[in-house]
Amino acid sequence: MYFIANWKMHGNLNSINSIDRVIKLSRISKYKKVRIIYCPPYTILGNFVKKTKSSKIIIGAQNCHYRENYGSFTGSINAKMIKDIGAKFIILGHSENRFTGDTNKIINLKVKSSINENLKVIFCFGENFDQRKKSKTFQVIKKQISAGLKNIKKKQNIIFAYEPVWSIGTGMILNSENLEKQILNIKNYIKKKLKIPNPKVLYGGSVNPKNIKNFKNIKSLDGFLIGGASQKSINFIDIIKKMIN
Ligand code: PGA
Repeated sequence: MYFIANWKMHGNLNSINSIDRVIKLSRISKYKKVRIIYCPPYTILGNFVKKTKSSKIIIGAQNCHYRENYGSFTGSINAKMIKDIGAKFIILGHSENRFTGDTNKIINLKVKSSINENLKVIFCFGENFDQRKKSKTFQVIKKQISAGLKNIKKKQNIIFAYEPVWSIGTGMILNSENLEKQILNIKNYIKKKLKIPNPKVLYGGSVNPKNIKNFKNIKSLDGFLIGGASQKSINFIDIIKKMIN
């Protein structure tokens, strides 16, 4: 089971020691099988890599430029640089980046360059409120997956994160029955379309220590991408413990 902390534009040098408790938890045998991944902002990626070196915690980036090679792109960071700093994962296709201009085509280029660098991709997708209201959810999801992952090699290096846009940071979540159905539909689509025999699909959107019990019985779910509630170790640990115990 994956627990991925997406810190977004939060955290600084002072935040690094706040993950000590999570490192400690990751060493307890009961949690050895849990995959904990931290995706801090670029500025402290290297510090996180060093900090977690002798632990089972893995570090990921939150985005990259679509260009694979170095170039004159002021303020940008490519997948090579992310690999170089020691990160192993990368979040791509997040709705907050789609909102600021990432099209399916751009995301596709980002996935390709990340896969070429042997990074593991956390591929995000999900419908917004309007699309949901118009019953276009599955149509949108299919398009994001098929276009975003067109002609991708090493598909086993992709894990999927279903994040309904209306659920991110709002406190609203799908009820467990609907979510279970949705995850199964998504898995079937990925199996058929991308020929990945056993895809890992996570859920993201307002997951917190209070609502985590709603997800406990969803067998098809492989983990969570957690924003707000991952910034405080105490909440992140609470979520992990409530899911695993
Ligand atoms: P949230 O964010 O947990 O704060 O809703 C999740 C995400 O955007 O990945």
